[in-house]
Amino acid sequence: MIDWDALRAAAREAMTRAYMPYSGFPVGAAGLADDGRIVTGCNIENASYGVGLCAECSLVSALHGPGKPERPRLVAVSVVDRHGAPLMPCGRCRQLLWEHGGPEMLLETVRGILPMTEVLPDAFGPDDLIDRA
Ligand code: THU
Repeated sequence: MIDWDALRAAAREAMTRAYMPYSGFPVGAAGLADDGRIVTGCNIENASYGVGLCAECSLVSALHGPGKPERPRLVAVSVVDRHGAPLMPCGRCRQLLWEHGGPEMLLETVRGILPMTEVLPDAFGPDDLIDRA
């Protein structure tokens, strides 16, 4: 069972740490890893606007942080806006989540809990590099 309330609370806490002097738009993300860890991230912007990091980027970095197993996977993810409401990941971040969570990873969306297959249909992913080599 996934404790979505706890995951959302962790995403909301991460959102308070966002560094967003340019957009003024804070985002927080929290993920349950397959080893039981809850990892979090927030958006971290840059004076060179295009190199700013989305909250999901920070989340994936944390997934691969200290104490991680060899191949950590995301099982469930919550991304929130400044109001603590679910925020749909941008296109690039859907690809990131696909890479590190795969088709079965669950995301709390504006339409409820959905698997990644519905968030990023017909995704390009690691299997394509093998199947289409
Ligand atoms: N942002 C995220 O952190 N994640 C998303 O999926 C959408 C957008 C951030 C990037 C930027 O710092 C701010 O929201 C405004 O676009």
